[in-house]
Amino acid sequence: MFPAAIAVLQEDCLVDYRDTLDVMDEATLARRLQHCEGVISQLTDPITASVLNAAPKLRIVAQVAVGIDNIDLAAATARRIVVTNTPGVLTDSTADLTFALLLATARRLSAAERYLRDGKWQRWDIDLLVGTDVHGQTLGIVGFGRIGQAVARRASGFGMRVLCATRTPPPSHLLQELRVQHVPLDTLLINSDFVSLHVPLSAQTHHMIGIDQLARMRRSAILINTARGPIVDEAALTAALEEGMIAGAGLDVFEAEPKVQEGLLQLPNVVLLPHIGSATVATRTRMCVLAAENCATMLRGERPANPVNPQVLA
Ligand code: DGY
Repeated sequence: MFPAAIAVLQEDCLVDYRDTLDVMDEATLARRLQHCEGVISQLTDPITASVLNAAPKLRIVAQVAVGIDNIDLAAATARRIVVTNTPGVLTDSTADLTFALLLATARRLSAAERYLRDGKWQRWDIDLLVGTDVHGQTLGIVGFGRIGQAVARRASGFGMRVLCATRTPPPSHLLQELRVQHVPLDTLLINSDFVSLHVPLSAQTHHMIGIDQLARMRRSAILINTARGPIVDEAALTAALEEGMIAGAGLDVFEAEPKVQEGLLQLPNVVLLPHIGSATVATRTRMCVLAAENCATMLRGERPANPVNPQVLA
């Protein structure tokens, strides 16, 4: 946690904080939470039903992230424990990183820098490290929440045509304002030069992009994932990249973080990042402070700003 957030908590709460990067397993977490009324969690913390059930006094799980797939939401709701997240404060940083990854993959930035650092650069060559244009291409955005919309705004600055696919169509004024066309997922996959994923991980979105979806994409297309790893069937993606079914991928998230498939590590046409979508000092500080405020507010008996299961507060 960034210290500013601990200070927020200390105004109202007795804080049990260990300044370490170690991840606690379920048994350790359960022991630590026995007497706690609130917990600030991160996406590496397994907030499972058994952890929740070992914490009889727990009233709030305040997650430092938008994604809450590490938390058993149904179990928390059943126990009337409020779960909060940190939407809004990380939207632009994550959209910036998404676009950086898209550009890096299209223009082969990682390979180019490795080439230079390895001392291989002899002269300017007409076909040296040639990549794919971004401007004027079609971007397909899967999921059109805050981050998907922020990515669309950036794409319009690059003169891209933007498609989006969502379960529920976004309001037409939003589509008009951002000049985005809403289409079914298959249409998006068939017609996009870049496909960028911005849906939360859930039972419905797990392996939403598998071999069938990859087969529908253009052979020249690039897949970008800054959402959650398990949305993509990573083995299928590796096979698709190896077989040239699609041209490349930019990945900030993986199915079993921090493990990355050996096959992906060997491929030259992928850019791989260690889940740094929101990783700027300002944004990570805002995320920590917002989670701390959500927790302290709840423990003061007030309504936290970002409940994911608001029915518990009704
Ligand atoms: C989130 O918020 O879910 C990100 O993955 C962490 O920034």
